Amino acid sequence: MLKSHHMKFELKIGELDEAQVEAVVCFAWEDSWPVQTEAIDKELGGLLKKEVEKREFKAEAGKTLLVSALGKIPAEKVFLLGLGKKEELTPLKLRQLFAKLYKKIKEDGIISLAFERFHLEQGGTLTQIQAAVEGFLLGGYEFKKYKTQENKEKKEKEENKEREVTILVKSASELVSVRESVTRAEVYSQATIFARDLVNEPSSVTTPTYLADLAEKLAKKEKFSCKIFGKEELEKMGMGALLGVARGSDEPVKFIRIEYPTSLPLRKSSAGLRGTSRRVVLIGKGITFDTGGLSLKTHEGMETMKMDMAGAAAILGIFSVLEKLRPELHVIGLIPCTENMPSGKAIKPGDIVKTYNGKTVEVVDTDAEGRLILADALAYGMTLKPDLMIDLATLTGACIVALGEEIAGLFTQDERLKTNLLASSSEVGEKFWPMPLEKNYQELLKSEIADLKNVAGKKYGGAITAALFLQEFVNKTPWAHLDIAGPAWEEKGTELVPRGGSGFGVRTILNFLQNM
Ligand code: BES
Ligand code: MN
Ligand code: ZN
Repeated sequence: MLKSHHMKFELKIGELDEAQVEAVVCFAWEDSWPVQTEAIDKELGGLLKKEVEKREFKAEAGKTLLVSALGKIPAEKVFLLGLGKKEELTPLKLRQLFAKLYKKIKEDGIISLAFERFHLEQGGTLTQIQAAVEGFLLGGYEFKKYKTQENKEKKEKEENKEREVTILVKSASELVSVRESVTRAEVYSQATIFARDLVNEPSSVTTPTYLADLAEKLAKKEKFSCKIFGKEELEKMGMGALLGVARGSDEPVKFIRIEYPTSLPLRKSSAGLRGTSRRVVLIGKGITFDTGGLSLKTHEGMETMKMDMAGAAAILGIFSVLEKLRPELHVIGLIPCTENMPSGKAIKPGDIVKTYNGKTVEVVDTDAEGRLILADALAYGMTLKPDLMIDLATLTGACIVALGEEIAGLFTQDERLKTNLLASSSEVGEKFWPMPLEKNYQELLKSEIADLKNVAGKKYGGAITAALFLQEFVNKTPWAHLDIAGPAWEEKGTELVPRGGSGFGVRTILNFLQNM
């Protein structure tokens, strides 16, 4: 059980009709009922069937029917949760269903709840339990720390706030496997919520210095190592692109390097580098606020730009739970961190910066800053000789134009990496779509006076040309670029995410690392 949660999950061997809770939950498809539901309805003397008919309950996905048990079982109430159509139930939908159920029980003031471990389709029953628990935990997320009145009221009736969910299983061995799923869901949710909180904080709080301090604190607590590079060090290292972007800001630039686990046996194959296990480099874009710089954004364009560190937040969220998951991997996180501001000192269109690997870039548009700071991070990541490298970045508005707000772009030339990332993402209900690294567009990034320019001559295919720019800094290492500009920020608010940061990418990467 993790502290930050508003729910406690317990596992017990037992049956629904004996559960000592306020309400039990059973499930209904649009066209049929699972055996458990039929069984409990028998116990209730057909009460459920009667109510279903009376209230014309169709069991559409997310619809609930609350029935009083009339003393026939220990629980006072029975929830019938509609699952919709069998062929339409996905891992994402399952999470949404349980998020809806959470809101319902909160509305009804129900404190304790039980359901039986379910088996809703062929296979994957453990990931279904994981989905249910994630749905509860993520669906219950709120960012209310600046709501003074609500906080006051909450404190007054704080007692007994935590809701208790009991998951019933049949045997001791089941207890062990289901517990693993529940723990996984708790850990994944905690990491996601960690990232959500960071994105939702105003940029005046989550400055580069704040993120660097946070990384250091987290490193101590979670037993990984952390090194922060400041301006002087970055100058010595030659991170000219990151420094160029940072020039306009009064907030000091930071480059965060975190590494899990702290100590590893020496790897013989690449001298000087630690670790016998496979090495993964994860990079997160950490623009704590993106005004566009001198190529200033419009006021609408800027409104949500505190979210431009969502990639960084995801990496920190992931690292915040690695000690709990203990993957047999060497994971290095790199976070280039700065504001992108206009000022008398700011980088100007036409300026040329020299990146970490020596390539020069003509900065045509100061609003294409993400690829600049990532160029330095990717080039630095290459020197760590990773087996694979993944970056997460709110990189382009063009990716939102291409795929909409819900789907992230996945760019990679490594077929295996692509297959594995897509599989991991669909298991946890995050949407990615493969995008091309089209060679013919590479020439659009040629500059007359430098090795590259930071925006393509043409406005079309902006997500692709941004990815191609990044590719210039990775050579042959298997690498994936995840453009999360759309889904990192939830604009309208859904069952699973209120308006604001979504923590997108955290669960996909965690699942990917665990599947590796
Ligand atoms: N941070 C933005 C991308 C972005 C836009 C993220 C909207 C989330 C929502 C990025 O730094 C940016 O400004 N990109 C430019 C690139 C252009 C100047 C080539 C864009 O997408 O407009
Ligand atoms: Mn920008
Ligand atoms: Zn940006």
